[in-house]
Amino acid sequence: MRTPTHLDHRTKSAASLSIPSTTLLRDKGPSTATNIRESAVQRTDSATASLSKREPRILFVDQSGQLGGAEICLLPLAIQCTRRSEVLLLSDGPFRERLQAEGVRVSVDTDARVSNIKKDRMGFAALGSLPGIVRQVRSIATRGKSFDIIFLNTQKALILGAFGRVLHRKPTIWHVHDIVSRDHFGRLHLLLIKWAVKVGVDHLIANSRASADALIELTGLPPSAVPVVHNGVDMARFRGNTVQAPMPMNQRRAALGLPTDTFLVGLFGRFTAWKGQHVALDAIARIPHAHLVLVGDALFGETDYAQGLRAQAKALGIEERVHFAGFQHDVASWMNVMDVVVHASTQPEPFGLVIIEAMAAGKPVIASDGGAVPEILRDRENGLIVEPANAPELADAISRLQREPELALRLAAQGRADASQHFSIERYLRQMTRVLFDIAAPAPKAGSDMNLAKHR
Ligand code: UDP
Ligand code: GLC
Repeated sequence: MRTPTHLDHRTKSAASLSIPSTTLLRDKGPSTATNIRESAVQRTDSATASLSKREPRILFVDQSGQLGGAEICLLPLAIQCTRRSEVLLLSDGPFRERLQAEGVRVSVDTDARVSNIKKDRMGFAALGSLPGIVRQVRSIATRGKSFDIIFLNTQKALILGAFGRVLHRKPTIWHVHDIVSRDHFGRLHLLLIKWAVKVGVDHLIANSRASADALIELTGLPPSAVPVVHNGVDMARFRGNTVQAPMPMNQRRAALGLPTDTFLVGLFGRFTAWKGQHVALDAIARIPHAHLVLVGDALFGETDYAQGLRAQAKALGIEERVHFAGFQHDVASWMNVMDVVVHASTQPEPFGLVIIEAMAAGKPVIASDGGAVPEILRDRENGLIVEPANAPELADAISRLQREPELALRLAAQGRADASQHFSIERYLRQMTRVLFDIAAPAPKAGSDMNLAKHR
């Protein structure tokens, strides 16, 4: 398995800054020797106040008001940086409420109506949005001038922020959450992404090797220009510290409106065809008595697909065994009542937060191969990997875990250990903030590959 060591050279340069990288972090990390040392530095350093002034001011830009995976990754980072940073959203929604509830400064600017532009079929219709887009590029640039770094969290934010680079002249970083290939994007969109990176991005961070490799292939950048920081999960939240934790399993299930004594298979994710909910339905139809719980909703307008799933369950005669839970904020409580969690994406998954969340929850995971899945899971060691869009194979894997509870327990235990070791939220925040500190105060190591200016 690939371990998150890709930032090694970067980590060295952060250390050479002699600024404790944790000055950006609220001290919530686990009591590892390193953390204890770092917080001791924070306590005793009388210059802490002046160091915090050097904490970069970051304008985080995200196109979505919804709580998708990219936004869920941005949330803890924005919380860590609340003192001097701000989030700019290009649409309103529950993500804004969540950020504000956490004390993050947030503003919403919806001029360009970028949510109307679909990533897989961007065409001439987008031209109608052009005046709004131009206004939004200018408005991001104007706002960006009072920050040290412009952090572009989604691909539409990338395009708007990067093309404004000439106006704001601030270092930009794109956090790559997508696999920029024809599996996910139309040709025109890929071309735009390539140009945006070329003209207006100074630094990159990819959420997985798979996302980094696709970007490298698209742009021709060297691998050293696209460091990987794997996403992280709040282990404590998923480990079972939920409101329901003291209740026995049957009561917890009943409280969520689920059957208490059946084999429950959970699939967590927004409803969109490439997440493969339809494959999971096909698989469940092949396993008598097992129930499927679909947690999630159509976040980005895919209501036809969502309706199609209900029709499919009816046509398969499994309506009684399929539970549509809708979008849930307390995913940890829902994961905790499952026997198995499946991840059924039919296209390569750029990362797949739900996989590490299920591992942290101590649930055996079955995931379809492709994208970042092999960076997270080792087949039959900490999960099961199946062929994408292959319902019979998925059904076999589920039945196997139903028949072999010892195997399910072993995979779950190894999965939880691996999530804690490689995918903790503390590790993610440490690596991300180090990169941001390095950008704001670069080590005197001229010509670093990670500054894309060198490649223009
Ligand atoms: N999620 C959620 N409520 C739901 C379904 C999903 O909060 O009802 C969360 C899930 O816990 C995960 C995120 O949405 O943190 C989905 O992220 P992932 O990377 O798996 O997929 P994405 O949708 O970003 O492609
Ligand atoms: C995107 C990807 C998902 C990833 C998330 C966070 O939404 O589709 O795979 O986990 O971003 O990086």
